[in-house]
Amino acid sequence: MATFEITKTKKSRLNEINWNDLKFGIYFSDHMFISDYRNGKWDGGRIVPYSAMDVDPAMCTLHYAQSIFEGLKAFRSVKGGANIFRPDMNAKRLNNSARMLCIPEFDENLLIEAMVELVKLDYDFIPKVRGQSLYIRPFIYGTGSFLGVTASETYRLAIITSPVASYYPEGLKPVKILVSTEYVRAVKGGLGMCKAAANYAASLKAGFEAHKKGFSQVLWLDGISRKYIDEVGAMNIMFVIGDELITPSLERGAILPGITRMSVLQLAREWGMKVSEREISIDEVVESYKNGTLKEVFGTGTAAVISPVGLLHYKGMDMVINNNEIGPVAQKFYDTITGLQYGEIEDTRNWILRIEIS
Ligand SMILES: Cc1ncc(COP(=O)(O)O)c(C=O)c1O
Repeated sequence: MATFEITKTKKSRLNEINWNDLKFGIYFSDHMFISDYRNGKWDGGRIVPYSAMDVDPAMCTLHYAQSIFEGLKAFRSVKGGANIFRPDMNAKRLNNSARMLCIPEFDENLLIEAMVELVKLDYDFIPKVRGQSLYIRPFIYGTGSFLGVTASETYRLAIITSPVASYYPEGLKPVKILVSTEYVRAVKGGLGMCKAAANYAASLKAGFEAHKKGFSQVLWLDGISRKYIDEVGAMNIMFVIGDELITPSLERGAILPGITRMSVLQLAREWGMKVSEREISIDEVVESYKNGTLKEVFGTGTAAVISPVGLLHYKGMDMVINNNEIGPVAQKFYDTITGLQYGEIEDTRNWILRIEIS
């Protein structure tokens, strides 16, 4: 039994969904969870029908971006019911982001309970096709109405859910990535390691210009020396050079600690691969490309799980990776993680939160 009140919708939005053309983030399920922070504490929350929320023109978040979010997915399990992938990690990361933006932390167990109730209630919104899922978006924003750069005294946490298409309807498709030499996303000491809305605003112009040139995303270099690799727009990045799996370390503090990244690294270590979390410069990548040791490049993230990079463009140079095909390492991570998510592979690591539907 949920610890909070649930008000069910009187009119479902289920019929409005075009299941043959879901795309990402355009349809929303019937219900949302809301909790408010006032007088120094969060209330117990409630589930209500999905609807617009009031916004005061002076609401501080509109002006000063005191806003954070998370993204995770629920999958229709082959065993019936639903699976959520590592929600405890998202709950923890939400609170890490909260601390950096002076937002009060939210009870992680309550957040997970709320996500479970939403998935149960809107189970019919989880697509039936393998590769598709119900995206879960928790977010917190300051609700104070004032002008002035200071933390809000009131907040709202909300969770909405959205049925989403498979990232790759025709199987894993390598993407073209532009290494940004003009713009930076984050610097040490900034918000790079948080899922802060402001980071995504900072990435829009570079992303827009990259799209215009035919690239799907931008690979960011570190904001200070512009030498070391940070991450991609909404993914962490990994390189297979020789027999070593290399990914930028989190130590510099400008990279989002991805949950897919963490899972891939754990699997790689379990499988006995040589794994390095370290600084890797773009020069090292170019060098390994030239001497033929660069075997695979792929992104890791909730949206696509694994996204093979077929082409990296840096300073006028096109580096075509693995003949623009998915490599064996990327494929193995993809098969294993999606197998766990859809319940086809037994979960021996406690990564899956199972939701039984009666
Ligand atoms: C900037 C950024 N880096 C990396 C990731 C990958 O993180 P995760 O694997 O937790 O989805 C994301 C997506 O959430 C992201 O937005």
